[in-house]
Amino acid sequence: MAVVKTVLSPTRRCQSLNTIGHAIPYFFAKICGYRSASSASVSSSMYKFVQEHGRTFHKYKEGKYFLPNDEREQNRLDLQHTISKFLLKGKLGLAPVENPGYVLDLGTGTGIWAIEFAEGNPKSEVLGTDLSPIQPDYLPPNCRFEIDDVDDDWAYSHKFDYIHGRYLLPFVNKNWGLLFKSVYDNLNPGGWVEFQETIIYFQSVDGSIEGTALQRWNALLLQGIQKMGRSATEALRCKNYLAEAGFVRLGEKKFAVPMNAWAKGGDQKAIGAMQMANNLEGIDGITMTVFTRALGWKPADVEQLVVDVKRDLKDRNIHAYITVIVAWGQKPC
Ligand SMILES: C[S@@+](CC[C@H](N)C(=O)[O-])C[C@H]1O[C@@H](n2cnc3c(N)ncnc32)[C@H](O)[C@@H]1O
Repeated sequence: MAVVKTVLSPTRRCQSLNTIGHAIPYFFAKICGYRSASSASVSSSMYKFVQEHGRTFHKYKEGKYFLPNDEREQNRLDLQHTISKFLLKGKLGLAPVENPGYVLDLGTGTGIWAIEFAEGNPKSEVLGTDLSPIQPDYLPPNCRFEIDDVDDDWAYSHKFDYIHGRYLLPFVNKNWGLLFKSVYDNLNPGGWVEFQETIIYFQSVDGSIEGTALQRWNALLLQGIQKMGRSATEALRCKNYLAEAGFVRLGEKKFAVPMNAWAKGGDQKAIGAMQMANNLEGIDGITMTVFTRALGWKPADVEQLVVDVKRDLKDRNIHAYITVIVAWGQKPC
């Protein structure tokens, strides 16, 4: 695996994250004993992000991942993290992991999961990897980041006790059987793997999604993602992949996440409200890249469709939801 040490995004320099995901100032990070990651070396070319349709994208393995990496997207990822923790009742994962030594977070994004895990488990050594160097500068002493491509061969100097991935699998183009084998081979006996994934397929409880722009957009998006050699729904079979790779003590939990605040009940309503913000923020980036790159659409046509879809995303008469799946397993002792 080609591993390049990374430091941090210029946009997030002098920032770090506290446990609720807010930027905390440099001096406070210092008081907390956080260290600067800037002593690591990274090629400055990694920061020359690629510009497309007014957004920025990763430079390393340019063109591979189809969501932006700019500050707007980073804020969305941190919001998504908050939604995830809401779903998991404040937890960072559901696998019954106990005192893991080495922890790996694949496709770590802003690194918010890795940082919080490191903070909550000071005896663990947490490594987060990603195509984009968008992680904050000041880090807990037991957390670090590297630029890396999960599709490459893995060549870590040690095995891990817990490998975690979240909202990553639809973007990986390695054969998933091989990916799960890499995870298995890079775990110590007794180590745990956990994936948390969104199935990017909108359904409605009562047929109210039928004939909407949202439904049309979603079908096209799935088609585009498939054309790009990825799958937005395959993660439903995560548990099967875990079993085929040899994992035992498998677990799985599915969550229906309302598209907006249409759902009744405190938690569901709050989750729906946050999910609406997440979708409204995320739809521009993913639609522009997938529709222009894979489906040959013109940017103006994409923008027009997105206007209609955003209207639907806010419509409480459309009782739509997506599924989030968490699956985990243990390498036999
Ligand atoms: C939707 S974001 C999720 C980020 C993070 N896991 C989270 O839950 O906040 C997906 C992340 O995976 C990264 N990614 C996509 N393809 C990758 C690959 N082949 N290797 C490493 N990282 C990848 C992207 O750069 C992005 O930061």
